[in-house]
Amino acid sequence: MVDTQLASGSSIRIAVVGSGYVGLIAAVCFAELGHSVVCVDIDAGRVAALQSGEVPIYEDRLPELLARHRGLRLKFCTDLHLAVREAEAIFIAVGTPQSPTGEADLSFVEASVREIASELGEYKLVVEKSTVPVLTNQWIRRTLRFNGAPEGSYDVISNPEFLREGTAIEDFLYPDRIVIGADSDRARALARRIYQPLIDGSYFSRPDHLPGPRDLSGGVVYLETSAKSAELIKHASNAFLAMKISFINAVANICELVGSDVSEVAKGVGTDTRIGERFLNAGIGYGGSCFPKDVRAFYKIAESVGYDFELLKAVENINSSQQSYFMKKLRTALWTLKGKQIGVLGLAFKGGTDDVRESPAINIVRALLAEGCSVSVYDPAATQKARAVLPEDEKLVFADGEFDAAKGAHALLVVTEWPQFASLNLAQLRKVMCYPVVIDGRNLYCVQQMAEAGFHYYSMGRPFIEPNQQQGAEHTTP
Ligand code: UGA
Repeated sequence: MVDTQLASGSSIRIAVVGSGYVGLIAAVCFAELGHSVVCVDIDAGRVAALQSGEVPIYEDRLPELLARHRGLRLKFCTDLHLAVREAEAIFIAVGTPQSPTGEADLSFVEASVREIASELGEYKLVVEKSTVPVLTNQWIRRTLRFNGAPEGSYDVISNPEFLREGTAIEDFLYPDRIVIGADSDRARALARRIYQPLIDGSYFSRPDHLPGPRDLSGGVVYLETSAKSAELIKHASNAFLAMKISFINAVANICELVGSDVSEVAKGVGTDTRIGERFLNAGIGYGGSCFPKDVRAFYKIAESVGYDFELLKAVENINSSQQSYFMKKLRTALWTLKGKQIGVLGLAFKGGTDDVRESPAINIVRALLAEGCSVSVYDPAATQKARAVLPEDEKLVFADGEFDAAKGAHALLVVTEWPQFASLNLAQLRKVMCYPVVIDGRNLYCVQQMAEAGFHYYSMGRPFIEPNQQQGAEHTTP
């Protein structure tokens, strides 16, 4: 199973349990670092697809790295026992979905741990890679013990993942930091060997290394903490980023009330290096498979250990209000909505991905259909996944491009921050639309420019400027 020829030198035999987002990226990147990797999944169809070279998720650089390592340093299989038996380190990267009550559902983690227990004998490192609440590490140790794993045959460490969808490979190989939460020297030493090419920067001097956003030849920041701290670092990081977004969205709402511009405020606030400019883009709120779930899971685990994390409940409330504000803007612009033709740009929860989980864009499309609108929607990557979650409705059409979605529309809504949406030909857009109305939930356009191009342009937390009437009549016939 393991490619011993390539697995020479400091190569470690790694099993990754789960071939979802985190598991697949980790498996591919560990192979890229020189390790011998087996990625296991119970989904035989997915494994067969991966074995035959299919790329199941839309992710920059993933096809290239899969092609480079598949069948050599990277193998896929459904047999967890075999993979674990041959591995020195086992990364658990199975899903931790939200349970109906908001906590993380850890049943997949527990099921994997029970199976891993039966293969322990020789020392192995068990690594939590899935996003899990604090104290999960203790539960994993206890579950291993209860299921017969001999004492001393394992250590359990926490190694949270900070990758973003769309830039996941780059985030893995060029991380801001690597966090290892371990409680024994033996575990810390093996974890260091796994990440050695990034710790000492030697990966970046390899002639075939993947080029990245910055020079890390001096090595990456490598933090060793307790297992509990590492678990908290993951939840606290995601919750903090979500808080930043909700904070700027709340400020954006004040900006609207007083006639100020949130992009100026965000620039002024974010240039304070203690705050930082990133994640201060106001809009219709955060979505995706991580922030909504992790914010909830974090205040739930806090509650269970005796702390009411009220701040995070406010973060969540502000986030869900943004979509209502956005719909209110549409009503302000169009008066009544029933029977109107609405163009929508975006379905994914953010630009650069085909993921529609907890996507604000999907909620907006649903709300439009519920209001009786006809909707023509375009997304460069997420249409297929959106079809699976949106209702079959004769009033919903999946368009072939931006102008196709805008054709004959009484309003065009921008709900996902795809870069190409920001550079549309405005004169052409004006021509194909029925009314010159654009509601921008991602602040992709310059307010002045849109007014000059003749649009009634509404964005998030920025002023409304009366459009230039010279650019055409209020109503055009497409
Ligand atoms: C997020 C974190 O950024 C990663 O560090 C983390 O590893 C990951 O969750 C995870 O836990 O797996 P991701 O969900 O891929 O990554 O997406 P982000 O790029 O963080 O965006 C999340 C949402 O926030 C998107 O809906 C995006 O549109 C929104 N957002 C982001 C804003 O509304 N404003 C901003 O300024 C930034």
